[in-house]
Amino acid sequence: MLWLLIALQWLHILAGIFWFGSAMTAHVIVFPSFRRFPPETRRGIIEAFAARYGRLVAAVAGATILLGVLRGLTGGVLDMLTSPYGVTWIAAILLAVGVAAFEGARLSPVVGKLIAAGGPEQIEALDQRLAAYGRIELGGFLVLFSMMIAMRFGY
Ligand code: HEM
Repeated sequence: MLWLLIALQWLHILAGIFWFGSAMTAHVIVFPSFRRFPPETRRGIIEAFAARYGRLVAAVAGATILLGVLRGLTGGVLDMLTSPYGVTWIAAILLAVGVAAFEGARLSPVVGKLIAAGGPEQIEALDQRLAAYGRIELGGFLVLFSMMIAMRFGY
């Protein structure tokens, strides 16, 4: 049982740091540095970036959530669902599904529209919306990450 717990935790943290870390890198480093290029060039590099990142991120998000659920179940969370630990675990599932849905239903369509945009003004406007959505997404991740630390200390 301990080895299963260790394996799940290992995989969960690996998937989690990939999901959260790549979102931070994308919104703090990648997209801001792309903004130094003129809109038409930016569209091309965002398209190339999204073609690769978009395929990966859905799998990584799904793996993080699934492994977090399994890690909790294996640790016996069902016996303490009404404790602070249990409540944090349920809240983490809900928030993570929310962040993943926000990525799929809000953020990624903006990238799709930017790639298909008609002219430079439209590209600029969509890029600004991408930056705003990025801040919302990172805010969600920060709360989610704080919940992980809380669970580590029994909350
Ligand atoms: C971006 C999303 C996530 C990241 C970056 C992340 C990261 C982490 C990290 C670093 C730990 C280790 C904490 C420690 O031992 O100090 C952890 C533990 C854990 N995570 Fe996540 N996690 C994420 C999402 C989730 C989700 C959605 C769930 C589902 C409920 C979850 C469930 C758990 C559980 C049960 C533990 C073990 C807590 C314990 O008893 O020590 N995580 N996570």
